[in-house]
Amino acid sequence: MPESSSSFSAESYFATQPPPPGLEHDIEGVKEFVRRQQEKGRNIVLVTSGGTTVPLELNVAYGQLRPSVRFLDNFSAGTRGATSAEYFLKAGYAVLFMHRQFSLQPFSRHYSHSTNPFLDFLEIEPGVEERSSFTASGAGSKGSQICVTLDKRETLLEVLTVYKAVHAAGTLHTLTFVTVNDYLWLLRAVSQELSVMKRKAMYYLAAAVSDFFLPRQKMAKHKIQSGKGSLHIEMDQVPKILKPMVDNWTGKDGFVVSFKLETDPALLIPKAETSLQRYGHQVVIGNDLNRRKFEVVFISWKDALPSSSIDTADSSSSFAESWLRIDPYDHNKEIEEDIVAELVKRHEMWIAGGTTSIKP
Ligand code: PMT
Repeated sequence: MPESSSSFSAESYFATQPPPPGLEHDIEGVKEFVRRQQEKGRNIVLVTSGGTTVPLELNVAYGQLRPSVRFLDNFSAGTRGATSAEYFLKAGYAVLFMHRQFSLQPFSRHYSHSTNPFLDFLEIEPGVEERSSFTASGAGSKGSQICVTLDKRETLLEVLTVYKAVHAAGTLHTLTFVTVNDYLWLLRAVSQELSVMKRKAMYYLAAAVSDFFLPRQKMAKHKIQSGKGSLHIEMDQVPKILKPMVDNWTGKDGFVVSFKLETDPALLIPKAETSLQRYGHQVVIGNDLNRRKFEVVFISWKDALPSSSIDTADSSSSFAESWLRIDPYDHNKEIEEDIVAELVKRHEMWIAGGTTSIKP
């Protein structure tokens, strides 16, 4: 049971909140994926991506829990996770991509319905017999061909070639979550499966996870009615799962990278350092919501790195700080390329026997 009405430990959370229905099936798929990658000798990275929802009411119909009418959500579209997954694949990693349903995914992200709708770069070429009498209503008639607009062809060909190659190699496995409850159950189960990879596993936690939730026991059984005036909801804190993840689920061997998101720049470094100190993992990547596309900071243990890769290191502190920046106006460059390159380097050191050395 919860320790208090607003605080769950990871243990009490999993003892009181039910698992999502598809969990066992998902984990069978993960097991098989991990086994195949192990055979090929590949490193695996688990990338979490997108935001979690927090349902405010239950909707049980025909014996199944269905999406509720009302829920809390957050801003994340999953850009960081989907983009990073592509660069990990390019670096030779097998990727377990655990993302919010309908958030961006590797490769298809280039053709998002809002920024680059794919129908806009397709053209219809009428068949020979229709050429003289083509009308809008005749589109799709016999002999018509679909072509890609000339100026989009090169990029599409590039994306499609890598996408097909990744599928042929079987190096990308996708899992979805919607609620914070789905996320927590899935994260625990996937991390436990991945722990057989020992140091060859990386955990890249880019999902924007809700800090508060409504336990099942406190949720209204049906749609909350509006006739009673204002609505007061007291939410419980989502348990901090990084500690059990680092110490238990991953078997202490995994290379764990978490993110710290802030809107107050003054909090970014102290909060990232506190997180590393508290959970004892390898790297925290700090990002300011408004600068995250062109600037991030890596916080790690000072003695886990060669001094040449540290920007700032207060001699009395155990932490090293290194910044990654790209030109905000260069639209052909993605900061995830540099984030992944840096992490791959550090993960290699970790596999070779490097240390975070300081455990809280
Ligand atoms: O999707 P984009 O628009 O590209 O945005 C990317 C991003 C800003 C969402 C991403 O870069 C980022 O910062 N993700 C983490 C945001 C967050 O939830 O931070 P946090 O301080 O609440 O959590 C810290 C870390 O612990 C995160 O790695 C989070 O995934 C993980 N966490 C947090 C709480 C919890 N209960 N479980 C977790 O796994």
